[in-house]
Amino acid sequence: MKKVYIETYGCQMNVSDSEVVLSLLADAGYGRTSDIAEADVILANTCSVRDNAEQRIRGRIDYFAQYRKARPGVLVGILGCMAERLKEALTESGKVDIVAGPDAYRSLPALLEAAFDGHPQVNVLLSREETYADINPVRTDDAGVSAFISIMRGCNNVCSYCVVPFTRGAERSRDPHSIVREACDVFRRGYREVTLLGQNVDSYLWNGPAGEEVNFARLLEKVAQISPELRVRFSTSNPQDISDEVVHTMARYENICRHIHLPVQSGSNRMLEKMRRRYTREWYLERVAFIRSVIPDCGLTTDVIAGFCSETEEDHRDTLSLFEEVGFDAAFMFCYSERPGTLAARKYPDDVPQEVKVRRLNEIIALQGRKSLESYRADIGKTFRVLVEGPSKKGSGQLCGRASNNKMCVFEAPGCKAGDYVEVLVRDCTSATLLCTLEKTCTAKN
Ligand code: SAH
Ligand code: SF4
Ligand code: F3S
Repeated sequence: MKKVYIETYGCQMNVSDSEVVLSLLADAGYGRTSDIAEADVILANTCSVRDNAEQRIRGRIDYFAQYRKARPGVLVGILGCMAERLKEALTESGKVDIVAGPDAYRSLPALLEAAFDGHPQVNVLLSREETYADINPVRTDDAGVSAFISIMRGCNNVCSYCVVPFTRGAERSRDPHSIVREACDVFRRGYREVTLLGQNVDSYLWNGPAGEEVNFARLLEKVAQISPELRVRFSTSNPQDISDEVVHTMARYENICRHIHLPVQSGSNRMLEKMRRRYTREWYLERVAFIRSVIPDCGLTTDVIAGFCSETEEDHRDTLSLFEEVGFDAAFMFCYSERPGTLAARKYPDDVPQEVKVRRLNEIIALQGRKSLESYRADIGKTFRVLVEGPSKKGSGQLCGRASNNKMCVFEAPGCKAGDYVEVLVRDCTSATLLCTLEKTCTAKN
């Protein structure tokens, strides 16, 4: 039996896609290995969102080359967004045998077969329909607690800085029945959390053959109804599209986790317009106020870009003041990276000097560090229900798991294991972890 080794980069959608790929390849008779040295096929599922993500993959391709050389017949395949963006150019190095874009994974067995005959293979066709709805992903999460489920693919927005619409194609929603079936299936297998994934989950919309219409709020509800013991998370919410109905649905079901990832990108209206985000600072702040009025304890996290085209100190201060005002629990913070082919690359000079981008980014990071600590401190004295994920990273015999608001908790809980629910009391914190003691063990995994 031939063996496949796979590395996954980029977002959660790629993690989910790698599971689809492993499933398709298992059906075609390939086994999986975590030891690159014994692999017949070496795959990297890649990301193009920033230049440094692509540079990292280039380094990996060079690294894979030694295994390809050492054993004749070993194939190297590049999947995902970078495959879609660079296409044939990837095979020109002579170090890559297969290039398959995000909608081309069903063709992988055929591509591999042809490539074993010595001909590089490229399939980067994007589809308007493909959702891999019928594929039962091979779960790669070893603890068996938390599963990613893609509910849609692609993106119909045109944020001017973003390469995703080019690499992932048009937005399409997956059949809700197949989503609910998959969630039921993982729950039956002992998983206790699912995360519903899409670039813009609020634009999920399914029109069934019999006139049935399912929007994201309805889908969320259907998944939440599977069992109160199954936690439901979702990502990503676009500030423009997050609906009152979704927030009210969250409030109605305790097992829908109280956390929204709501990428703001900038606090400046001038930048937001140039980024082609379809909301203003005021709209964003209103959405935050609305969420907090319905779910006062809702966790909020965000993404932000420092140094987008023509960003002034005033624009940057608007971002800082928005961060000050909202008080996110955490944020993913990036320097703007120009992506070839995007609207921004075509229309706007990337004119903020690198050192200015980095300085602004560092100012945002410093402010957010302070805000995170404030937010985590505010939880001291509270009790949370936590889903145990496994041993804490630091070792020391402690366990870790997240509270509903997505904050990581560490605690001692002798006899408890991944998949159990426990109740903990927050005693202390850092800016990224709640340090807790066990109050009681709630439910044991069967
Ligand atoms: N669909 C999500 C974002 C997916 S990309 C949304 O609309 O929010 C994840 C994050 O990468 C984005 O939120 C953005 O902050 C960042 N990002 C995207 N393109 C970028 C670029 N060209 N340079 C720097 N950061 C970028
Ligand atoms: Fe990119 Fe915007 Fe789509 Fe998010 S919503 S993936 S930032 S184009
Ligand atoms: Fe990267 Fe593609 Fe995800 S560009 S962030 S892997 S959608």
